Amino acid sequence: RKYDPYRPSTNVFDLITRDAKALCQELMPNPEEETRKLALLERLSDIATEVFGEAEVLPFGSSGNGLALANADMDVCVFLNSKEGSAEEQVSPVEFVERIGDRLEKDNEFENILQLKRARVPIVKLNHVNGIACDIGYQNDLAIWNTRLLRAYCRIDTRVRDVVVIIKTWAKRRKINNPYAGSLSSYAYVLLVIHVLQRRGVLPNLQSIVVGNGKIPYWDCQGFNRYFFEDIPNLARYWQPTPEAMKQSVGELLYEFFRYFASEFRYTTHVVSIRSGGLLTKEAKEWSKDHTQPQQQQHQRQQPQTLQPQTSTVDSPALTDEQPAADSKPVVKNRYLFCIEDPFELDHNVGRPVDRYSLFTIRGEFMRAAKILSRNGEGAISRLCYERE
Ligand code: GTP
Ligand code: MG
Repeated sequence: RKYDPYRPSTNVFDLITRDAKALCQELMPNPEEETRKLALLERLSDIATEVFGEAEVLPFGSSGNGLALANADMDVCVFLNSKEGSAEEQVSPVEFVERIGDRLEKDNEFENILQLKRARVPIVKLNHVNGIACDIGYQNDLAIWNTRLLRAYCRIDTRVRDVVVIIKTWAKRRKINNPYAGSLSSYAYVLLVIHVLQRRGVLPNLQSIVVGNGKIPYWDCQGFNRYFFEDIPNLARYWQPTPEAMKQSVGELLYEFFRYFASEFRYTTHVVSIRSGGLLTKEAKEWSKDHTQPQQQQHQRQQPQTLQPQTSTVDSPALTDEQPAADSKPVVKNRYLFCIEDPFELDHNVGRPVDRYSLFTIRGEFMRAAKILSRNGEGAISRLCYERE
């Protein structure tokens, strides 16, 4: 490890760890909230079954991976178990949004129903009267698998959740957790945390652990390999953290996270890749040039779907914005300024919304955070998460 003159002492780390854990405790969703979410899930499941016949509704994102903060939204995905050859097999994402959206309108249990039909991934957004905000997607298998992957990483070590919760809180309060405005999704931040923890030896690379001596199996999901080692209770047979990694406190790991993205990570050349357990180069991935693609091309590729909001060449669209009409010279800009490879969908840059300006802001926040944590422990966590106006 390189010499770091700003690295705080153990006492400082202990104070940061104490406050970080206290904040995590405070931000845990309470059991009552979980109950409301479960009730909503069941309600949606009944409605989907009523509309489409056989349907299954699964939670994903933070409601499925154990990384939810109190009052988090709920992401759910509807799967139709259609019999082969039946009419239900044909339901397109747009039709899905229309049919379920129209049905939900009839219920005064739901408010602010929004049908985003022309988003890259069509969804319905709504608020339930019990206070839960919910996004409903359709047949997005990869989202379910990446949720399971993140959950598996969380189950390996309790420090993962603590670090993630602080990073998510910091990003929300500092206003850099909005992909629609050029910053990063929570999903992206979790991938960054896993990357740093892999580097520190706190986490393994679950996608490269194979039972037996064989090759990595290929388990297809929408054209990508969704294989990963998920048998966490037996992980110790295949991988163990280094003694040094076991000793690192949450405070130390938080500092390491910010220090790494403030001053070590090379934004111009590197790609964060938890799938390969380290870094790749933009050159090797052919991610060095911004690609401007006709929208048509994007739409041909119906699957894999992602929940990545569309970024446009001009200002990023607001949440409710839909795609421009097909005749208005549609372009999709894939930016490669902050490169974070999706663990399954290897051609997808999860950092795609980031532009030159937001990258400057985000890097500024990494530096601010590293500085705060390196000064003194007392009060550092609350200063770190100080709400920006
Ligand atoms: P909060 O809503 O802030 O609590 O965080 P979250 O953990 O729910 O994360 P987020 O809302 O960013 O994403 C929810 C889920 O959507 C993720 O777990 C992924 O399954 C999926 N997702 C989000 N962004 C992407 C993306 O860019 N690519 C892919 N493939 N999936 C994504
Ligand atoms: Mg979410």
